[in-house]
Amino acid sequence: MTWSVAELIEKRSGEQYDLHRQYINTSLARVQTIIGFDRNYSRGEGAFLWDAAGNRYLDLLSGYGVFNLGRGHRVVKQAIQDVIALDRPNLVKMDCPLLAGLLAEELVRRMPPELDAVFFANSGADAVDTALKFARAATKRPRMLYLEHAFHGLTLSTLALNGGNEFRKGFEPLMPGFDFVAMNDLAALEKQLRQGDVAAFILESIQGKGVYIPAASFLPEAQHLCRKYGALFVCDEVQVGMGRTGRFLCCEHWGLEPDIVTLSKSLGGGYIPVSATITRRKIHDATFSRLERCQVHSTTFGQNEPAMAAGLATLHVLEEERLVERAATTGENLLKRLAALQERYEMIADVRGKGLMIGIEFKAPRSLGLRTAWTAAETAQKGLFAQFVVMALMREHHILTQVSGPDVNIIKLLPPLIIGDEEVEMIVSAFDAVMAEAQKVRGRVWGQSAQLIKHALEA
Ligand SMILES: Cc1ncc(COP(=O)(O)O)c(C=O)c1O
Repeated sequence: MTWSVAELIEKRSGEQYDLHRQYINTSLARVQTIIGFDRNYSRGEGAFLWDAAGNRYLDLLSGYGVFNLGRGHRVVKQAIQDVIALDRPNLVKMDCPLLAGLLAEELVRRMPPELDAVFFANSGADAVDTALKFARAATKRPRMLYLEHAFHGLTLSTLALNGGNEFRKGFEPLMPGFDFVAMNDLAALEKQLRQGDVAAFILESIQGKGVYIPAASFLPEAQHLCRKYGALFVCDEVQVGMGRTGRFLCCEHWGLEPDIVTLSKSLGGGYIPVSATITRRKIHDATFSRLERCQVHSTTFGQNEPAMAAGLATLHVLEEERLVERAATTGENLLKRLAALQERYEMIADVRGKGLMIGIEFKAPRSLGLRTAWTAAETAQKGLFAQFVVMALMREHHILTQVSGPDVNIIKLLPPLIIGDEEVEMIVSAFDAVMAEAQKVRGRVWGQSAQLIKHALEA
């Protein structure tokens, strides 16, 4: 009997939440159900998802940033299908595969000066971990610096660079000598660097958790200090790279010249996990320093053919469809229109971002009735108001967003870079309607607060 995944999906569709509760992450499945996100998605295309009943949803999460091209881009699909159809000799391992060389060539072409050596792995955390090893090998120093609120992954080494205690709690002790510096605090950074034992300062030039943007001079000055004290300056572009902020690399906004850049997420075109750590030849070769050390850092699935083909296709599409420029102009328009709502809704504290990475931060209202409702929610769990807004956007408008990290009243919008005027209009009018409803204590936005507060308190 032939086996068909299509038949399997057809037969078992709708069982996913039961299966996850039973075999995977029970807590996560419960949370999705509580917040009304337990939909039965059956199709994704471009910036949209459809559920089995045919309802359409606008996806402003982009799978945490993997769908810069939107879902199911024809060119990426074709590239992956082609390498499979061609029976390419994948993962020979004792080999130097062509597509990896070609993707490395294309990436180097898009990098700041002198970054000309590439290491391929599978995930963002893999890429950051590689940067840490490269930095230690090149500088012979042990310590790393990172920023408050930073997020570089959740493996044990990248957790040691995590600027939020919520993620670290329960997994200590983490790597010794990994210390955080507050954003914009150059004096604190210099104090740490002056000790002479820091291998690298690693940062996201716009932070994913909270969409925090540094002061204009911070990153150039920080880079200068790293050079002065012999530490490497590492830009983690896993989320902000690949055109997300209106430049191919986010660090280009400040004209930075990092020693190491990490990329992942949408490099795989939304299909194949892949990451790249790009650095100077000399730094790269400090790790692979002798012939017998040529595999001292490696990963089984690195350089696999479908991933390399997806990466090449993605870079081609970004250029061909001018998506980086599009992210800049669409993002500017969306940011301006959302910021204009601030005048009408007192609970919007800030709207910030670059390109199509936008954060909307909320603050406590002044009016007494609303303030009581806000305080009850925030006492139960910090950031609960943002969760109400996320739930309302989904419930009333079929728009998928997320609270931008634990304990913050910030929503992050991370739409595919292909969105245009129509989607901007949908986002702004939905957000406008939700905020108007949130001004009413008895409005639908607060309607489910009692139940959510109860769950938060139980947790
Ligand atoms: C800036 C940054 N670095 C690293 C990572 C880790 O990537 P992954 O989840 O693929 O390990 C993420 C994930 O969100 C990220 O945003």
